[in-house]
Amino acid sequence: MANDWRQQIHLEPRAGWLNDPNGLCFFNGKYHIYFQFSPDSSSGAGRKCWGHFESSDDMQSFDYTGIVFEPDIPEDRSGVYSGCAVIHEGKMHIFYTGNVKLPGDYDYITAGREANQIHVVSEDGIHMGAKWVILRNPDYPAKMSCHVRDPKVWIEDGKWKMVLGARTLDDEGCILFYEADDPDEWHYVKTLTRKDYGYMWECPDLFDVGGKWFLGLSPQGVPHEEYKHQNVYSAGYFRYEDGTLEGDFEEFDYGFDFYAPQTFIDKNGNRLIIGWMGIGDIPYSNPTTQLGWQHCLTIPRRLSVAADGGLIQTPVVNYDGESAPLGDNTPEFPYALEASQIKDGLEIGIGGARIAFKDGVASLSFTDDSGSGRTIRKAKIGSCDDVTVIADRSSLEIFWNGGRTVMSSRFYPDTTAPAIVYAGCELSVRKLKKTEVRGFE
Ligand code: FRU
Repeated sequence: MANDWRQQIHLEPRAGWLNDPNGLCFFNGKYHIYFQFSPDSSSGAGRKCWGHFESSDDMQSFDYTGIVFEPDIPEDRSGVYSGCAVIHEGKMHIFYTGNVKLPGDYDYITAGREANQIHVVSEDGIHMGAKWVILRNPDYPAKMSCHVRDPKVWIEDGKWKMVLGARTLDDEGCILFYEADDPDEWHYVKTLTRKDYGYMWECPDLFDVGGKWFLGLSPQGVPHEEYKHQNVYSAGYFRYEDGTLEGDFEEFDYGFDFYAPQTFIDKNGNRLIIGWMGIGDIPYSNPTTQLGWQHCLTIPRRLSVAADGGLIQTPVVNYDGESAPLGDNTPEFPYALEASQIKDGLEIGIGGARIAFKDGVASLSFTDDSGSGRTIRKAKIGSCDDVTVIADRSSLEIFWNGGRTVMSSRFYPDTTAPAIVYAGCELSVRKLKKTEVRGFE
């Protein structure tokens, strides 16, 4: 089949719908990558489960081991929603939200929904222990709506700590903090918010990179601007200092398709981030939906802190050989394009995708229908020293200035080797090793 748009280095389901990465961790010599999975429909309808990939410690070959959680207790009967994994004393501790929609005439915001936080212990990441409910609606502050979810847990100075994303009854997005000495006995600590920053904060993640702390979150309802918050929902971070949110919110990604990321620590102690290369309720589309599946995860990116205090994302990929000047050959996906010697007016075309830099603004746009309804995304980056594009069969991830600004997008060219044109730079290409995925029948 010519246009199956199957990804070569990105994790995606064989059939059905994928959304958020969940439970990311390195455990017993393997990486575990769980994901929100609707196996019954490529449009996301039906059961909401967790699917599971695990890999050798080079993230080069993966096994899809199947569904590890499905809605099968009263407390998660409308969906096994997002969550995380923590490794403690040789066991994996998973925390997720059991979503329950009660039958009846409810708005499901202020009434009719249960948000149950659930703890599960696993010895191997595949076989799961009993589901144990640790927090229910009455355990949240009285001013919360029924939207409280996506636990991210870590252990700090011997204490278990948790952040939850939430929506107040006044339609304000916020984070709830809980603490525990025992992972089944949690108590509320505090709520944090930022005025006028949307009505719901999903998928919080409180993490440190080299001793600096950040609060990652996916806010819904932040007003759109020309160079910021261009998508229906955003994903980004505040700095977190002395227990408060500091500075401006900065987006993790300025492309068309990035949401609900999660960070974790790799085998070398580096912090990596993986996002969902998709967003809910988008006004554009993904033509794989008609073929039976939709969405993938981003490649992992290593986080570091820039001199200005913001985050740098460095792609973590497996290269196949050295980079070489592009020359006359048109490479086959997957590959990395590396642009240097950049001039104002830079333009790189990959099929119908246009990557440009002019007057301090980086952009990604489409000149044909390979964007499937995607128009233009822009970011003010000031100057431009380099650009790296990770190109797979149906996605582009663009790392400006060593990854200080990133743009991720799905795109659907009609060939596995679209023509590359460029002006205003030197361009090299470096092949990437295909990721092997076993376990799909
Ligand atoms: C984010 C999200 C989470 C929720 C999950 C449900 O995309 O809405 O808040 O847990 O997806 O699939």
